[in-house]
Amino acid sequence: MHNGDWYESGPLRGRAAGNRQTDPANGREPPGSRRERASSRLRAVRAGVSGTLVATRRVLALVWSTSRGLTLSLAVVTALQSVIPALQIILAGRLIDAVVNGIQEGGDASVEPIVVLAALQLGLLLGASLLQTLGNISQQLLQERLAIHVQTLIMVHANSLDLADFENATYYDQLQQAQRESANRPVQMVAQVFNLARTVVTFATLLALLVGLSPWIAVLTLLSPIPAFISGSRYGWWGFQQMRRQSPVRRVLSYLTTLLTTDEYAKEVKLFTAGDHFIERFRVAATGYYDETRQLLVRRYLAGFGWGAITVIVSSGTFLYVAYLALRARITIGDLTIYTQAATQLQGAFQGLLGGVQGIYEHGLYLSTLYELLERQPTIAAPGNPMPVRRPFQEGIEFRNVSYRYPGNDALALDNVSFLIAPGETVAVVGRNGAGKSTIVKLLGRLYDPVEGQVLIDGHDLREYDPSQLRRQFGMMFQDYATYQFTAGENIGVGNVERVSDSAAIAQAAERAGASGVIDALPEKYDTTLGKWFEGGHQLSGGEWQKVALARAFMRDAQILILDEPTAALDAQAEHDLFSRIKELTEGRMALFISHRFSTARMADRIFVMDEGRLVEQGTHGELMLLNGRYASLFELQAASYR
Ligand SMILES: Nc1ncnc2c1ncn2[C@@H]1O[C@H](COP(=O)(O)OP(=O)(O)OP(=O)(O)O)[C@@H](O)[C@H]1O
Ligand SMILES: [Mg+2]
Repeated sequence: MHNGDWYESGPLRGRAAGNRQTDPANGREPPGSRRERASSRLRAVRAGVSGTLVATRRVLALVWSTSRGLTLSLAVVTALQSVIPALQIILAGRLIDAVVNGIQEGGDASVEPIVVLAALQLGLLLGASLLQTLGNISQQLLQERLAIHVQTLIMVHANSLDLADFENATYYDQLQQAQRESANRPVQMVAQVFNLARTVVTFATLLALLVGLSPWIAVLTLLSPIPAFISGSRYGWWGFQQMRRQSPVRRVLSYLTTLLTTDEYAKEVKLFTAGDHFIERFRVAATGYYDETRQLLVRRYLAGFGWGAITVIVSSGTFLYVAYLALRARITIGDLTIYTQAATQLQGAFQGLLGGVQGIYEHGLYLSTLYELLERQPTIAAPGNPMPVRRPFQEGIEFRNVSYRYPGNDALALDNVSFLIAPGETVAVVGRNGAGKSTIVKLLGRLYDPVEGQVLIDGHDLREYDPSQLRRQFGMMFQDYATYQFTAGENIGVGNVERVSDSAAIAQAAERAGASGVIDALPEKYDTTLGKWFEGGHQLSGGEWQKVALARAFMRDAQILILDEPTAALDAQAEHDLFSRIKELTEGRMALFISHRFSTARMADRIFVMDEGRLVEQGTHGELMLLNGRYASLFELQAASYR
């Protein structure tokens, strides 16, 4: 299989050697010897051709797997359509000859052949129209099916990728391009492949008609559309490059649109009256985007017009020549019709042929982004023979000299962190903003792998386990928990999808998280849709949302409960209620919670103090106070503000 980099070197244009590139904005060719240019151009053409073949095969397979029936019906319809133009022309020619005959001979005998021919033509036209209709139905249905199929593919694939992929701008560029381009292009591409086959047949039949008249007219007719084809392909390539280049700008534009059109930002945007500022940014970015697009677009169509004129001139000349032949009575009037029509249609067919190739090539380029996305492989995956996870854990969790650095960051987020959490133990992690607390949680959930060191459970590196098996052991609440615009029940239930409709389990989780009061007050209790995105949605307060998110973490029969600032939005009473029950809630399991409130942190069996990525102190509240270090000073600071 091709490695997908063929779109890096365009066809019919020199780019392969070095980074030289014809700039479409000024149209100048790069410097370099003619020979070098020619050979690099040849290489590029070869890459374009083989890339297009690969793309065609992949897309045919994709469309075939989407719906065999519809693909077949599109193929059959296209095949039948291929012979229609020649039949139509022959019938029209014969009809004219029959009419001319009738005029010359007179009498009723000449009427019959005319009627028969007219009836045949009627049948043919109706047939053609029916085929067109069936073709449209198949193509559109296939398009709809395929759009759903590809969207599902993208979702399934995205679901398998690493968290780090989602924190990467290139990924979003790819994702957006793939989504934009892959709904319609595959079917268009396949339709074009079929059409190409059809055009080849049509082309051959028409060519046979024309060669009978004059071989050199046939040759001229064939050559005249080639310049337009070359120009079209080059612009197609530039257009694709431009699309890739502009992808980040388009994302900025769509982000700015989101800022002004969704509830998430509406409050702030209005209160800070920042709307006009964002709109202005949009205007500026959109204008630049438009200018760049316009330049290429105008050039592309003007060039198409210019080269296309050659075709028009040739076909006019042919017409004149054939008219001359008819005038000299070297051919019949019917022949005249056949030849002129055949010439025009042949040219059309040939243009269709070249245009088809160009279109397939261009669709292939755009679809390459979809395959790039689908070829992206997660680095965090199950090993061949994963360790079974023990229930209950025997030795607990260990961080052994763990360091982690986020991609693109210089500083270490975790710097040589080592600790042990025994089965049944409850640990609180404290420390200032950016100290690395949430990073510990993410490494534990194997959302990232450490840069150095190891995270172990029961003495085995996390990498020896199947990540999904492992994650099933965790009941997690993230600092930036999700707020699903679904029912309250589903919001909690997705914490354990196997029991998403188990109302007793959901109610119990809500009870433990202190969320049942909130939900009982809702008009339809657990069936109330939360948020404002969907009809009948009921918005919750910040703290109420947090209670629901917390309940989600309690849905699982987890071996370890991990709560990242679970009470940040809770009122003092709710926080007190939660932590006074923390022993009972974590009975028989391990718990790791992060908190900025020392009054709650002290309820843990042990406390870890993080500072600039390092674990600087650990112990019970009493021990750390005695140590009189970082913990003691932060504790005193907070306590003093309450006095
Ligand atoms: N997704 C990310 N990509 C890149 N860098 C990140 C990411 N998340 C965190 N960081 C960096 O890692 C450092 C540690 O972040 P972390 O979220 O672990 O801090 P924290 O202790 O949880 O802070 P807080 O109390 O504010 O929640 C931060 O300085 C931040 O710059
Ligand atoms: Mg954090």
